[in-house]
Amino acid sequence: MNSADLRKKFLEFFKKNEHTVVPSSSLLPTDPSVLFTTAGMQQFKPYYTGDADAMKDFGSLSTASVQKSMRTSDIEEVGDDTHDTFFEMLGNFSFGGYWKKEAITYAFEFIASVVGLEISYVTVFEGSDVVPKDEESKEIWKSLGVTDIREEGMEDVFWGPTGNNGPCGPTTEIYCKNANGIDVEIWNIVFNEFFCDGSREQLLAGEAKLTPLEKKGIDTGMGLERLAMVAQKTTNIFDTDLFLPILDQVPDADLRLRRIVADHLRSAIFLIADGVLPSNKDQGYILRRLLRRAMTYGRMHHFKKEIVDNIVEATLSIYEGTYKELEEKKEHVLSVIHEEGRKFGETLEKGLKELEKMENIDAKSAFFLYQTFGVPFDILKELSGKEINQKAFEDELKKHQELSKTASAGMFKGGLADHDEKTIRLHTAHHLLLSALQELFGKEVKQRGSNINQERLRIDFSFSRKLTDQEKKHIEDMVNEKIQQGLDVVKREMPKEEAEKIGAEMEFGVKYNNIVSVYFIVPMPEASRIRDGEAIGKDIMDKVFSKEFCGGPHVKNTSELGHFKIVKEEASSQGVRRIKAILE
Ligand code: SER
Repeated sequence: MNSADLRKKFLEFFKKNEHTVVPSSSLLPTDPSVLFTTAGMQQFKPYYTGDADAMKDFGSLSTASVQKSMRTSDIEEVGDDTHDTFFEMLGNFSFGGYWKKEAITYAFEFIASVVGLEISYVTVFEGSDVVPKDEESKEIWKSLGVTDIREEGMEDVFWGPTGNNGPCGPTTEIYCKNANGIDVEIWNIVFNEFFCDGSREQLLAGEAKLTPLEKKGIDTGMGLERLAMVAQKTTNIFDTDLFLPILDQVPDADLRLRRIVADHLRSAIFLIADGVLPSNKDQGYILRRLLRRAMTYGRMHHFKKEIVDNIVEATLSIYEGTYKELEEKKEHVLSVIHEEGRKFGETLEKGLKELEKMENIDAKSAFFLYQTFGVPFDILKELSGKEINQKAFEDELKKHQELSKTASAGMFKGGLADHDEKTIRLHTAHHLLLSALQELFGKEVKQRGSNINQERLRIDFSFSRKLTDQEKKHIEDMVNEKIQQGLDVVKREMPKEEAEKIGAEMEFGVKYNNIVSVYFIVPMPEASRIRDGEAIGKDIMDKVFSKEFCGGPHVKNTSELGHFKIVKEEASSQGVRRIKAILE
């Protein structure tokens, strides 16, 4: 049976048994406490809690769906025979309608009669301090002729809640053998009897309360990839028709690595089609991690860029007629992946070269590569083939965060512990002013001192004579022009040498760390290219108005500054002039 048949037969079977078929919801759930849709029941949460009325919305107390799902908790396992990140979940649900007997019987009939598989064994809940042992399910399985029934506990056969709270309850699971004779869990049948007022972690720690739900519910989930593996008699999910066409497009390399590339790109395609863009937080961060991991492997094995297009094509062909958003978003998906590849490619190249040069990689050097080139910790670990102490790496990260905090506190030397808005605006104006002075008098003009408070900024700079009124006016105009242009202020962490190479202004006499933060004042789209970690080449540098070693903080955009005005220009010491300026 191919996967399209399995989906179709599943929905037909439950339709025949009076379930309303509901389309898959997006991979991005409406519940803000979870990043992704991880199970079919998520879109139905309000029907279990009584917050929505299934009869009214579906004309039935029972529904069935094939749900796009995404789980990254087992990401380290991807590449073995049974784990992937994106998967489809076949599910049937009841909201105060049928209960254990029907749910177990439907599952048995579908597996045994419709797909024609043998059940290897099933599990039932062994009982806990607060929830009794599930004798009822045991009896039902026995009556169906299943003899191998195993009892398990909270960790394995108690589902939920998803997010910060929600419905939950004991489960019974069905295991079948794959072509290797290995038992694989394929179906999880949940008996939602309780509302839990905390998260799953709190529940397991005994810190959350269970209250019986007014109406009991059924929630079942069967992974399509695993079902296909068993039905198609393969030894792993990657040899099923849901993966093979994709894997065929990944060039020869270590099998685990090829599987990871196939899995991560497939997931990325679905995420982008559902509206996720690579970024540094939430879903965008996960997408970026998936793409960058696949890209790192691709780069290590000199995969050609075109394989991305081939993988997208192969993915589309597998899901043609099932998820129309893939076809509709094809061009968008391709351009997002290629754009991320372009951004990451240049820095990755450098990062890998650095890594090759390193004889030993420890937490410190791993942090350096992470911080500078954006090569994620897990990838570094794999690439180097060495055990790097994760805790030591995280300590480095913490140390660094502390340092940046101290650096920015030190920036305001005039007793300004308070980073109030006025001071921050003047700080950014201070950067603009230094660049304007250099623009007018040449790069040899250097900052010799600075002081900023809420009222005004003060800069001391190397210059040997008094400024004319005309020159002062010219500098003011230049700064005000940059304010009006609404340039972005972007921070980038980089090795000291690199910052020096691009000519970032450093303060005279200050001893800097190996990694420094540099603030750029630059228009879009170069600002976002810097922000995204792209290598800073000439094309970007040409657009940069100001670049300084600095701990911040700064405004986000120069348009926040107001009108710049020089209030005083005077001698400070031999060969050093002083300007005081304000923002009106
Ligand atoms: N919610 C359960 C699971 O995801 C059953 O659908 O396993």
